[in-house]
Amino acid sequence: MARKMSTRKRPRREDKPLHEINKIAYKVFDTKTLHVLVGLMNTRVFKSIDYPLASGKEAYVFRGTRADGTHVAIKVFKYETTAFRHAHEYLEGDPRFNAKRVRGRLRDFVRLWARKEFANLQACADEGVSVPQPIAHRDNVVVMEFLGERGVPYALLEDVVVANPRLLLSEIVAQAKLAWQAGIVHADLSSFNVIMRTSEGKEGKGAQTPVLIDWAQGVSVAHPRAREYLANDCHNVASFFKRLGLRVDESEIEKTITS
Ligand SMILES: Nc1ncnc2c1ncn2[C@@H]1O[C@H](COP(=O)(O)OP(=O)(O)OP(=O)(O)O)[C@@H](O)[C@H]1O
Ligand SMILES: [Mg+2]
Repeated sequence: MARKMSTRKRPRREDKPLHEINKIAYKVFDTKTLHVLVGLMNTRVFKSIDYPLASGKEAYVFRGTRADGTHVAIKVFKYETTAFRHAHEYLEGDPRFNAKRVRGRLRDFVRLWARKEFANLQACADEGVSVPQPIAHRDNVVVMEFLGERGVPYALLEDVVVANPRLLLSEIVAQAKLAWQAGIVHADLSSFNVIMRTSEGKEGKGAQTPVLIDWAQGVSVAHPRAREYLANDCHNVASFFKRLGLRVDESEIEKTITS
């Protein structure tokens, strides 16, 4: 005969969503991060964590599923990373964030870094820049729109065949210009941080539009080194298109963005 579990042994209500966190997440995350993820599940930001989309130097990105079956991207910044050694320069000098207060405390610093990504995404989305729509932020976790179709992520610019390089370059420059108008410089723009959103056409060939991702290191245009970071972004973008055979003038791109 099945025995009723004593209430003492029964999992607490707030621990229940832990069952929805898969084994990978259990192995990967520290207790603090697990609690943040459970908190986001309890507030119905997502219902489950599905599988890792990527594991970079500073963050893991997971696909998640919401109660209505749609997907989200969950970016979890690593507390144990060493990738933040140079990150202070992007925070100090940005009038929006008080980096001095967290100097030396890695945990606080990682949280601030996640908050910066969310704030940058919001500022860009408000201005109409092509970025993943920000959904939620808590501690070291940022939840945003999942860029993909039927649960499968779109490809990075780095990995696609570009049909019309000249057009695509002008589209990316237009997005960087919008971001500048929103008061933000990406500061790590490259073919690895652009995802190609593909809308399906009738014969399976869809139109592709660039979506700019990975905004944690983005700085305010008021940052003393903003112009330097912008010049570097223009250089990276220009190099990619030069490799595709285009003649590109970096300073021309920079002028277009800031004019
Ligand atoms: N919104 C999203 N939808 C779908 N996939 C995403 C999304 N955001 C990020 N990804 C995937 O996760 C990868 C890493 O994301 P991102 O560049 O933001 O993190 P990162 O920590 O800077 O990674 P890296 O160190 O590799 O640059 C991307 O290259 C992409 O494959
Ligand atoms: Mg990246």
